[in-house]
Amino acid sequence: MTTDTAAVFASAFGDSPDGVWAAPGRINLIGEHTDYNEGFVLPAALPHATRVAARRRSDGLVRLVSAQGDGGVVEFALDGLAPGSVPGWAAYPAGVFWALAEAGHPVGGADLAFVSDVPTGAGLSSSAALECATALALDELYGLGLDAPGRALLAQRAENAYVGVPCGALDQMASSCCVAGHAYFLDTRTLTGRQVPLDLPAVGLSLLVIDTRVKHDLGDGAYAGLRAGCERAADLLGVRALRDVEAEELASAEEKLPAELRPLLRHVVTEDRRVLDAVALLDAGDPRALGPVLTAGHVSLRDDYRVSCPETDLAVATANAAGALGARMMGGGFGGSVLVLVESGRLAEVEQAVREAFAAAGYGAPHAFPAVPSQGAHRVQ
Ligand code: GLA
Repeated sequence: MTTDTAAVFASAFGDSPDGVWAAPGRINLIGEHTDYNEGFVLPAALPHATRVAARRRSDGLVRLVSAQGDGGVVEFALDGLAPGSVPGWAAYPAGVFWALAEAGHPVGGADLAFVSDVPTGAGLSSSAALECATALALDELYGLGLDAPGRALLAQRAENAYVGVPCGALDQMASSCCVAGHAYFLDTRTLTGRQVPLDLPAVGLSLLVIDTRVKHDLGDGAYAGLRAGCERAADLLGVRALRDVEAEELASAEEKLPAELRPLLRHVVTEDRRVLDAVALLDAGDPRALGPVLTAGHVSLRDDYRVSCPETDLAVATANAAGALGARMMGGGFGGSVLVLVESGRLAEVEQAVREAFAAAGYGAPHAFPAVPSQGAHRVQ
């Protein structure tokens, strides 16, 4: 990170912070739109993170500043904090104060200065990074004694109930709980997880993230609509969540649903299976075989779940044609980033092919970088 977080704190608030904490953005190897269906996910933390320098206050006031904002300080009192009371980027940290208080944790005021290099609007969970960094800073400043999943769930609560985005637990659990050099296999029903070793460079492989830098407006309302569709399908099938439909029962379950809900069920059931397959391949020491699993996941998101878009489709098709082992869109969809599994020796070639295809299609240049599984939320100083 180029900007010194403590220096941003000092210039906004004077003096030095009590500490500096960081929480990362994430990739997701496989397991998309499964979290709110109580299914499986397999994320890993990015090296890109939101850092927060923070200091306690004793007067119940909160002051926030972000190096990525306009330099202005956002100030509010904890007393009277309610969903919607703080707008814009500051709603995410404000929501964490609110969620902590709502859960009965004794949190007072604080000054917080944020510096982030997580690309925003790219499906890489910059919001979760902001929330989870805040949650960890407040946990330690106020000695709350929370654990990583506990902080993640409070961060998710902030996003659901304060910011008003009906996301599942994937992003916050990844940002809080991931461990460097591992993917995190998480059952989002039981919230039990397992760290799966993922040292791809050791076997000559790389993960390339291609941020298409597009975000189609359609995505905003569509996510809630898809989630509602899945819940309706579960109701009609008489199960608690679509996670409860086994792959073997898929055909008969589809027959019980109206035509428009069948592809949603198909995606969720096959995607859960792909997560289990991916974990089995990693456990068996066969990471190259992940490639086709990723591409199958993309096809399912494109044709069944219908959250892909021309830019992500082009990136996936081009990467695969240029020799990648597999590729897929990540996150909620309608733009954002594509994850590519590629032999390290072909990384530059694949990246170049995608750049050229984007230029030829008249799209803006994508932003590509290799993703090395990194540390979840932690104290920096
Ligand atoms: C967004 C949400 C997550 C998850 C993904 C899709 O990132 O925040 O909870 O649903 O979309 O897998």
